[in-house]
Amino acid sequence: MSFTVAVVGATGAVGREMVRILEQRNFPVKRLVPLASPRSAGKTLTFRGEEVAIQAVSAEAFQGVDVALFSAGASPSKEWAPVAAKAGAIVIDNSSAWRMDPDCPLVVPEVNAHHLKSIPKGIVANPNCSTIQMLVALKPLHDAATLEHIVVSTYQAASGKGHEAVTELVAQAKAIAEGRTPEHEVFPGILAFNTLCDWKAGADDYSEEEWKMVYETRKMLGDDSIGVSPTAVRVPVVNGHSEAIWCRFKRPMSAKEAKELLANAPGVVLHGEAYAPGKHPQPLTVTGQDAVHVGRVRDDLAVPGAINLWVVGDNLRKGAALNAVQIAEVLFAKK
Ligand SMILES: NC(=O)c1ccc[n+]([C@@H]2O[C@H](COP(=O)([O-])OP(=O)(O)OC[C@H]3O[C@@H](n4cnc5c(N)ncnc54)[C@H](OP(=O)(O)O)[C@@H]3O)[C@@H](O)[C@H]2O)c1
Repeated sequence: MSFTVAVVGATGAVGREMVRILEQRNFPVKRLVPLASPRSAGKTLTFRGEEVAIQAVSAEAFQGVDVALFSAGASPSKEWAPVAAKAGAIVIDNSSAWRMDPDCPLVVPEVNAHHLKSIPKGIVANPNCSTIQMLVALKPLHDAATLEHIVVSTYQAASGKGHEAVTELVAQAKAIAEGRTPEHEVFPGILAFNTLCDWKAGADDYSEEEWKMVYETRKMLGDDSIGVSPTAVRVPVVNGHSEAIWCRFKRPMSAKEAKELLANAPGVVLHGEAYAPGKHPQPLTVTGQDAVHVGRVRDDLAVPGAINLWVVGDNLRKGAALNAVQIAEVLFAKK
């Protein structure tokens, strides 16, 4: 059986990756419908060696669509996801628009594929990129010992803010290297050779990005008592998010036990060797890979039974496009 697949936001950083992943994983696509803003109407993209025309998103474009992968931002998702669902498509949305809607499952297949049993609005939400890689790494440990408290600091790449952000980072680095004054428009300051906290403000002096990690973790693991203490930071990396995670469970967990659990965990590559400079998961080396890489698993020095981990993933793949296609595979391709 094969399916008509729409990609909304097909010209964006995540959308382009979605099209590539549909092709790489041989998803049974009968017809690809690439959609974007009116600015991109008439442009083409290549899918399976053929040029396919990009259309402006419209109600007509969703006729006959089985699955619509959305990555166009929250406002277009709020407007068009219900239109696509009404036309009969299952929507898998990458934006924040539907994540906390109780009628929309928020899913990472390795973590909570069972939530896909009920999709009341015809819309499934993809979690935030930072939450996805954190929970792929922590779920096997949670199953064994039940998470009580997570302290996480993120080191997030420019690509997480879209393809214009990557262009701006590279231009800033070039300007500084050439002795010119760098400019910024996408970022609220200079990211090159620097770090920024560039997300919108949320409650209590946390950013919206930090709150997403709190609420999304609790929704996916079905436990509002889990403590999450997040600090989200943008670093001058093109692609690939890193996270330093400290966690404590309802019973003591050792680094040795965590490594044994992670060695066989779905979607995880464990770097289990002892500490050595430069021998740890890195954004440059995980870019283009599907798995979440976990290394530097250590017993905490101050709190007995707590552990520290270093978790790196390709934010455009597992953090967005791949996770969406994997949800589509659970719902469609494996039927
Ligand atoms: N980048 C990541 O790591 C990541 C991870 C998880 C989730 N996400 C989410 O995925 C979404 C897209 O992110 P991105 O990084 O791919 O952004 P991006 O590179 O800026 O691309 C945005 C895409 O949306 C399209 N678009 C914008 N406004 C539209 C409208 N009104 N109607 C239809 N299409 C419209 C754009 O089309 P034009 O080219 O025609 O303007 C483009 O294809 C965002 O919600 C983001 O939060 C991103």
